[in-house]
Amino acid sequence: MSTETVNTVPTLQVSNLHKAYNGTEVLKGVEFQINKGQVKAVLGPSGSGKSTMLRLMALLEPADRGEISLDGNRIGASDNNGRIAHHSERRLAVQRRDIGMVFQRFNLFPHLNALENVVLALTEVQKVGKAEARERAFMMLNKVGLGDRDRHFPSELSGGQQQRVAIARALVLNPHVMLFDEPTSALDPELVGEVLEVMENLAAGGMTMIVVTHEVKFARRAADEVTLFDSGVIVEQAEPGEFFDNPQHERTKQFLSHVH
Ligand SMILES: Nc1ncnc2c1ncn2[C@@H]1O[C@H](COP(=O)(O)OP(=O)(O)OP(=O)(O)O)[C@@H](O)[C@H]1O
Ligand SMILES: [Mg+2]
Repeated sequence: MSTETVNTVPTLQVSNLHKAYNGTEVLKGVEFQINKGQVKAVLGPSGSGKSTMLRLMALLEPADRGEISLDGNRIGASDNNGRIAHHSERRLAVQRRDIGMVFQRFNLFPHLNALENVVLALTEVQKVGKAEARERAFMMLNKVGLGDRDRHFPSELSGGQQQRVAIARALVLNPHVMLFDEPTSALDPELVGEVLEVMENLAAGGMTMIVVTHEVKFARRAADEVTLFDSGVIVEQAEPGEFFDNPQHERTKQFLSHVH
């Protein structure tokens, strides 16, 4: 492949993504892509399908229809003469390594300290040796500003610190893309800033990121593009200035009137 071709392949792409729960369609043909180094913020009302889209992209749940590609290769399922063939759990586990996900709730292991929580990602998922894992984990904790909290257990850390450990845990695997699902929504207001700062640094460092968020300031500052999701489809996508100051769709104007 020529360099040019490599550069034009989206890091993550979904096309015609469909998902229903109990007969109710939640994703209705979502088209979305992100290129290397891009940051996309996703906004939208509750229940519009934002988390579902991220869970499908992270291969935590199978899609009913549509395709997901990472660096140009289809993941999650193959087309078997027009019928969708979901990949085996073993194959999914390998594919998942390249996609980092951070949730609203941090889901750290309460019996492991900050360092061990990050180490575990490496030793369990990537089968990295203990010594190298500890070194890499410590570097990541430093990167999220927690180099001095490595021995603290989750119960001894603030929500903002716990979320930063969760970010370090995802980052240490060197994912090709990071998916964030409302990473600051469960935090006390005074702890939101420290997590957003870590995310802004990541964005500035060239990480490819999809961030579902209500934080307009973050979206304005850090995102290359802002997306409005509504009722299982993407309504509008534009660069932040356009999106917030000159939205084209009535639905976006309506949504923003509640957010501002
Ligand atoms: N596992 C599930 N089983 C059944 N219904 C589900 C499941 N997950 C999500 N849903 C439904 O799918 C719809 C979309 O949910 P989703 O969590 O993706 O929305 P969201 O945009 O992330 O909302 P929020 O902003 O509140 O997080 C909702 O109506 C929800 O009830
Ligand atoms: Mg959600």
